Amino acid sequence: MGALDPILWKTISSPGRLGYSVAATNPADGDPGVSKCLVRPATRGDMPYVTAIYGNFVATSTATFESVPPDESEMERRRRAVLDRGLPYLVAELEGYIVGFCYASQFRPRDGYRFTVEDSIYVRPDCTGHRVGSTLLAQLILDCVLEGCHSMVACICGENARSVALHASLGFQQVGLLPEAGCKFGEWLRLLIMQRPLR
Ligand SMILES: CC(C)(COP(=O)(O)OP(=O)(O)OC[C@H]1O[C@@H](n2cnc3c(N)ncnc32)[C@H](O)[C@@H]1OP(=O)(O)O)[C@@H](O)C(=O)NCCC(=O)NCCS
Repeated sequence: MGALDPILWKTISSPGRLGYSVAATNPADGDPGVSKCLVRPATRGDMPYVTAIYGNFVATSTATFESVPPDESEMERRRRAVLDRGLPYLVAELEGYIVGFCYASQFRPRDGYRFTVEDSIYVRPDCTGHRVGSTLLAQLILDCVLEGCHSMVACICGENARSVALHASLGFQQVGLLPEAGCKFGEWLRLLIMQRPLR
C-alpha cells in the first residue's frame, strides 16, 4: 500500500462523524456528545494510517524537509527504531480513526546526545485546531520524563505558526534559528529550534 494511496487517504480523511465537532480530551467538557481523543502507543496495525497522514504532509507541505513519501514498511522500520531505543511512539484515536501520531527520537546520533530527544508530530489536516496535537505532545512529554530523558527539542521547518504555538503552549522556548537551512518546493526555508526541559 503506497503512502499516498488515494483510497486509503479518502477513507481516513473522510470527516464522517468527526467533522468540526472533534474535541480532544478537555476536563472542562462534560458534553457526552463530544468525541474523546484517546492517545495510546502505536501498533503495527496503525501504520497504514500513520503512513498516509505523514505521506500527505511530505507531498504537500513544508512541515517536513523530507520530499519523497516513505512507504509503510519504511515507516514501520522507523517505529521499531524508536521503540528499540525505549522511546515512545504514540497515536491519537478518535471514534476509531487514527487522526494523528507523534514520537520521540534521539536528537543526534552521537552517544552524548542520548538524553536529548526530538519530537515529531502530525495531525490529520481535517482534525487540526482541536487540541489533538496538544493531547499527543503532552503524553509524549510525560512518557519521555518517565523514561529519564533530560530535554526535548522541536525542529520546526519553515514558517509554522501552529507548531510554534503548540510547542510554546507546552513549555518549549525558542533556542535557535537557522536561516535558509533547507530547500523544498524551490524555496529556501528556515529551521526554528525550540527546547523544553524534561526535569
Ligand atoms: C502542528 C500540529 C501538530 C498542531 O496540532 P493541533 O491539533 O492542530 O494543535 P492544537 O489544536 O492542540 O493547538 C495547539 C496550539 O496551537 C494554537 N493554534 C491553533 N491553530 C493555530 C493557528 N492557525 N495559528 C496559530 N496558533 C494556532 C492553539 O491555540 C493551541 O495553543 P493553546 O494551547 O495555547 O491554545 C498540527 O497542526 C499539524 O499536524 N500540522 C502539520 C504538521 C506539522 O506542522 N507538524 C509539526 C512539525 S514541527
